[in-house]
Amino acid sequence: MKDSWATFGIDLHLELGGPRRRKALEGALREAVADGRLPAGTRLPSSRSLAADLGLARNTVVEAYAQLTAEGWLAARHGSGTTVAQRPPLPPAAPGGGAPPAPGAERWAHSLRPGGPDLSSFPRTAWLAASRRAWSTAVDADLGYGDPRGTRQLREVLAGYLGRARGVRTEPSRLVICSGFTQAFGLLCSVLRAGGATAVALESHGLPELSRIASGAGLGVLSLPVDGEGADVAAIGGAEVAVLTPAHQFPLGTVLSPRRRHAALSWARQVGGLVVEDDYDGEFRYDREPLGALQGLDPDHVIYVGTASKSLAPGLRLAWLALPAHLVQPFSDAKLLADRHSSVFDQLALAELIASGAYDRHVRRQRLAYRRRRDRLVAALPAGRVDGISAGLHALVRLPSGMSEAVATAEAGAHGLYVEGLDSYRTGPAARPPALVIGYATPPEHAYGAALMVLQDVLALGAGP
Ligand SMILES: Cc1ncc(COP(=O)(O)O)c(C=O)c1O
Repeated sequence: MKDSWATFGIDLHLELGGPRRRKALEGALREAVADGRLPAGTRLPSSRSLAADLGLARNTVVEAYAQLTAEGWLAARHGSGTTVAQRPPLPPAAPGGGAPPAPGAERWAHSLRPGGPDLSSFPRTAWLAASRRAWSTAVDADLGYGDPRGTRQLREVLAGYLGRARGVRTEPSRLVICSGFTQAFGLLCSVLRAGGATAVALESHGLPELSRIASGAGLGVLSLPVDGEGADVAAIGGAEVAVLTPAHQFPLGTVLSPRRRHAALSWARQVGGLVVEDDYDGEFRYDREPLGALQGLDPDHVIYVGTASKSLAPGLRLAWLALPAHLVQPFSDAKLLADRHSSVFDQLALAELIASGAYDRHVRRQRLAYRRRRDRLVAALPAGRVDGISAGLHALVRLPSGMSEAVATAEAGAHGLYVEGLDSYRTGPAARPPALVIGYATPPEHAYGAALMVLQDVLALGAGP
């Protein structure tokens, strides 16, 4: 029974019905100190009178006071009884140590933040219909703990989809569903480290989190140069793992040339290395059919990772890996230990979405929409400013000569536009000419034109008087 005891001027929320009375009293006092109802310096009643007040044995109160004194909540001084201790203020969060602001949480009038799809175009109706179908066909056993690799339904549907849409050669038993590429990569790093790998090679520019994830798992991190043909594995040094974005380099926007694709596979075969293929936006190619996944050429040396973060929404936290046979068991074990498996409900809904054809329709619609946006970006800027292939959800925009990334992002910010400089994606020593990474998919359709106009104005400033 939970009771509120009014004693020495404050309410103590105590559950004194059970045998753990001392614990209950300690908890209530701790809470009262923590939330400020008992400020520092407050003199507590004597153990005898509080015990009488609460109907407890005196010893219970004495022990509770002693425990809280030992923990630093209370101070006991001879002759002056027990008081609430002075506690040092909480230390300020270490720089960068606090929770990062959620992307998009800021109040910008316009945002061309790279990395996300147009969230306003999420196929809500189709998703709801797919969820309803999933719920009406799920059996009770589907709601219990399941296979760490993910639901059979989603893995079966995905194996077919990835084969037909991305040229991935796999089977349901080799697929594992994860909470985004981020979790997939983290678990891979631990599994590969445990298997004897010592270092990963990352493209010279990429997701900043990757090197932190890899080093957190105890792997060394090397940087691979990227030129117009994509990443060059000739410079891989001693790394046993190369993380590549072959279909559309993030964020430089190049495609891995046939020569470099073969070089990557020959390297992997020669040294027994592995390529992690981050196929984050492979469905979005506008000038030709999307290139098939590198994994299709050598499923034993390439770990394919796809994600719903660009095709649907990052908030779903759904991604999938197609693993070489020897990694399936250790990776499933790692996934089991991390979180048993990803949420069954969203997996079942995604399986329905894909099986019904609604996923393909959504991707086709978005492909058209993003292609138009990219065309508008190219048309809005002086010729030659937009780098990279016609693909994906972002483009590299070179700055006018003399304009630094810091100036461009600050000017944009002063006009209410959020943009990011290329240098914030640098993972190695090689700096590049200043550029912005423009996420043209980010704003809702109605807001894109205005964002583009601000970008035009900002870049025009650099063109001089
Ligand atoms: C290069 C790249 N890979 C993968 C992802 C997807 O990560 P996740 O699936 O964890 O959302 C992103 C998202 O920003 C990305 O930019």
